[in-house]
Amino acid sequence: MRTNERADADGNRLFKKSVVAVYETETFSSLLKDVLHPGGLKLTRRAFEAAQIDKHCTVLDIACGKGESIFLLAKEFGCRGVGMDLSFPKIAQATTEAKEQNFSAGSSFLVSDAEALPFADAVFDVVLSECSFSVLPVKRQAASEIARVLKPGGRLVITDIVLETGSGGSMPDNAAADTGPTLPCIAGAVSVAEYIEIFRESGFCDAYVEDHSKELKKIGYQMALSFGGWKGFLQVLSSELRCASPKEGTEDFCYTEPNRKAAASGKPGYALIRVTKP
Ligand SMILES: C[S@@+](CC[C@H](N)C(=O)[O-])C[C@H]1O[C@@H](n2cnc3c(N)ncnc32)[C@H](O)[C@@H]1O
Repeated sequence: MRTNERADADGNRLFKKSVVAVYETETFSSLLKDVLHPGGLKLTRRAFEAAQIDKHCTVLDIACGKGESIFLLAKEFGCRGVGMDLSFPKIAQATTEAKEQNFSAGSSFLVSDAEALPFADAVFDVVLSECSFSVLPVKRQAASEIARVLKPGGRLVITDIVLETGSGGSMPDNAAADTGPTLPCIAGAVSVAEYIEIFRESGFCDAYVEDHSKELKKIGYQMALSFGGWKGFLQVLSSELRCASPKEGTEDFCYTEPNRKAAASGKPGYALIRVTKP
């Protein structure tokens, strides 16, 4: 590895560490509890329907957090699920919960990076990603890894923050256009068209899209109630991050995101996107 490649790799590793730290905070959990995406498990059910899941499917949840979607899959669809996330504490919690709820036979969890999946080719029927593609710095790499591990005919379903170019943005404050700190999922969001292009370049076809922006709006209202709004939420989050790692500067999470400039040009909405591996 050349020196500048090593510097890039170190920067990427530090960036990912700071992203993971944001979603491990008490502040973030207090807003969304155990399910860290707009729409909660109701939207997860919709994602499973869109993925045409049945009990014979094997499902991978990319950046699964505490594994709630995998537990839903086991309880309501009776199929096997694997959850992976870069956060050690989250995967430890999911593994403990799986044991306690007797899901260990059909559900497993591991710590891994979404951009380098530790699985053989063509082993999953469905890959799910909820509010996590937006936080990945090299989305094309993750998309081609997902295409590799899906079987032919397999489906990728994401629900995520998307940038809207029109006036239909959903956060009460224009969260993406502000120049100050923001969340990685806002800073790293791209438009629906860009997502579809990334997936098409990775070999996926038959894009299907649903708008769920009203779910993001509900989170905006929750932020207003609990923190006095978007800026109040970010202030509390930043001070928690500063206290947790004063030397590492994780409170700077917002400034390191490569897509920040793009984020400033559009308002955020929330969408479900399904694509198929031919
Ligand atoms: C907004 S949370 C969503 C979690 C979960 N999908 C849910 O809906 O509850 C984003 C998640 O992405 C994880 N994450 C961030 N970067 C990652 C990466 N490079 N690889 C795997 N997971 C990552 C974080 O640890 C966090 O759990």
